[in-house]
Amino acid sequence: MSSLQNKQILLGITGGIAAYKSAELVRRLQDQGADVRVVMTKAAMEFITPLTLQALSGKPVHTELLDPEAEAGMGHIELARWGDLLVVAPASADFIARLAQGQGNDLLSTLCLARRSKLAIAPAMNQAMYANASTQDNLKTLTERNIAIWGPASGAQACGDVGPGRMLEVDELVEKTAAEFQSGLLAGKRVVITAGPTREAIDPVRYISNHSSGKMGYALAQACVEAGAICQLISGPTQLDCPPHCQRIDVDSALQMHSAAMDATNECDIFIATAAVADFRPRQAANQKIKKQADSETMTLEMIKNPDILADVASAQQRPFCVGFAAETQEVERYARGKLERKKLDMVIANDVSQQGIGFNSDDNQVLIVDANGSKPLDKLSKTELARHLVKEISERFDKAN
Ligand code: PMT
Repeated sequence: MSSLQNKQILLGITGGIAAYKSAELVRRLQDQGADVRVVMTKAAMEFITPLTLQALSGKPVHTELLDPEAEAGMGHIELARWGDLLVVAPASADFIARLAQGQGNDLLSTLCLARRSKLAIAPAMNQAMYANASTQDNLKTLTERNIAIWGPASGAQACGDVGPGRMLEVDELVEKTAAEFQSGLLAGKRVVITAGPTREAIDPVRYISNHSSGKMGYALAQACVEAGAICQLISGPTQLDCPPHCQRIDVDSALQMHSAAMDATNECDIFIATAAVADFRPRQAANQKIKKQADSETMTLEMIKNPDILADVASAQQRPFCVGFAAETQEVERYARGKLERKKLDMVIANDVSQQGIGFNSDDNQVLIVDANGSKPLDKLSKTELARHLVKEISERFDKAN
């Protein structure tokens, strides 16, 4: 499988003769399974038309910062958030200077400011412009800001000069783009992840559940696959598609999730419990729909405790590295540490689900990692991005423990 399968790549094109190669780059990224959207600066349109890139990408090409039509479809902030990776190829000396200054005077520079994903640029310019101290200072600034600089290559230039400043070849750009999604951190490791809510039946038409969408668990499954893991997802009912190359076992109730998890544990190196499992279930689900009692204003359900899936996995004889999640609304660190110790876990990832915009059913999350050595807060990120950071944190601790 290509690591670019289903990846969302925003490709920025700036003004330079190498812009003609960007057309081939779009095609080659798509061949590898990537979904590519193109953003062009005005200068880029002097070298290649938006129509060519639209025909190749099959998507509208974005050129204007304030375009009411585009804003009605996918606005510039949404577009900035859409990309798993933003690649600017070619990146002209002028664009690099604007980027280094943090300008937002056109669509592409604004996307660079508003993005959440990593940014990579492939410089392309005349060798003297590249060697100029201003350009070199700007590139140094960008490197310090963790922006990847791909190239340039050296050789004969369109203007007749010879030297560094050529954009990397398309093959190399595709390779570097793919490498961004291949950490290899969990190569060959077997990971089992629980995700989503459970449903505890009251009768054939009613159940008790919660607001978990499964997004956090599915994002982790995708990040584990990207990191080379063999991943099994034990999922409660969600609206989500299973990430490619991940095996999904569908369950409804906590008991079913418990049974699937215990079956999978023997063969697993790392167990990650993101699922929001019901702590209790009705003692007896009625066989028939429960009818309203005309003479009663109340109804009592007797609930019994569900097994704690994570605690049972963590106390199994052949125990995997165990990562729990903690959904808290107060004293996040204290309660998370309590779960770490009580359930005998290697690591707990805590989120404050009382905060707006993170936790249950949101696209973003912000977490605190708690382990025996201390606590580490991570920034608010999209669940997709956060999952990649978490995979790094998990693999480091897993490696130390083994
Ligand atoms: O699915 P999303 O909409 O993306 O939302 C993500 C999330 C908020 C559900 C997720 O980030 C999260 O916090 N998951 C854990 C939710 C939870 O039930 O936390 P808890 O504190 O009640 O449980 C602690 C840990 O024990 C969890 O890892 C849980 O999966 C596990 N557990 C709990 C009870 C139980 N019977 N069995 C379990 O395995």
